[in-house]
Amino acid sequence: MDRSSLPRYWLTGAGNGIGAALAEAILETGARVAVSACSAQACEALSARYPGQVLAVPGNLSDSQTVREIGETIARQWGALDRVILNAGTAEYVHGQPLEQTMIEHIVRSNLLAASFCIETARPLLGAGSDPHLVGLTSPVTYLTSLQAAGGSSLRELFETARQTLVAEGTDVTLVTPGVDSASLSVDDCFPKPAHWSAGDAATYLLGQLAERPAEVTLSVSSVSSLWPLSTAANDRQAQAAPGDSTNRSPIKGQP
Ligand SMILES: NC(=O)c1ccc[n+]([C@@H]2O[C@H](COP(=O)([O-])OP(=O)(O)OC[C@H]3O[C@@H](n4cnc5c(N)ncnc54)[C@H](OP(=O)(O)O)[C@@H]3O)[C@@H](O)[C@H]2O)c1
Repeated sequence: MDRSSLPRYWLTGAGNGIGAALAEAILETGARVAVSACSAQACEALSARYPGQVLAVPGNLSDSQTVREIGETIARQWGALDRVILNAGTAEYVHGQPLEQTMIEHIVRSNLLAASFCIETARPLLGAGSDPHLVGLTSPVTYLTSLQAAGGSSLRELFETARQTLVAEGTDVTLVTPGVDSASLSVDDCFPKPAHWSAGDAATYLLGQLAERPAEVTLSVSSVSSLWPLSTAANDRQAQAAPGDSTNRSPIKGQP
């Protein structure tokens, strides 16, 4: 297959959840994908499964130097990007208990700061790409006013601000919002809005929607926690912790 005519992607958060499902679905089309996750192992596993298609660029995206180096690697290998999907981040359900400072820092760094570094790095690569498209997944952080204050700006505001610059440069921008929508309970919906999304279902639906390049895609659910399952570590932690009890668990998903 001549891959040079297929879009070059950078997908972040490709190691787990919806990112892993997106990686697989995109790679199945034959496209080339630069995959990022904290875990190098997850990126290397994709590289082994799809030889010649995967550029493994793992690292902590909340570190600006790491993100710059990832951009340099992509520029050296491909010279440009046509699609960027910024999915890496963390969704934490805190059951109403007061947020700990470590949790706030973790959420802001993993979602807001990482996204801002990735947008900055992706921008010139998209500018050199063909028919470029930037996609950003927001997180429940968007709805938490205390975290907006802590971050200085919400993830949504970050993408909306970037949209103004990027669109002027010829890059389409789509914001994907996992949204709580009471209309999702309606039996009269003209298209399906499942209250529970598997990662695979969400990825398939999302890629279908992205083909049209809408300004926004909503993954409508009746409850945000009914989205695709969180990672195993988060599920285990939630199962162990009684609602409202923050004493027996790590404040950060996947960490002891
Ligand atoms: N699942 C939900 O219910 C839900 C709801 C609303 C919004 N979202 C948002 O949707 C996106 C994906 O959610 P998900 O549930 O699929 O997430 P997930 O299963 O926890 O996977 C997150 C992915 O992002 C990577 N990642 C996280 N922080 C990173 C960092 N600082 N640097 C590099 N990579 C990082 C992880 O790397 P490793 O694989 O190495 O750990 C993993 O591959 C997130 O932005 C999340 O906030 C999810």
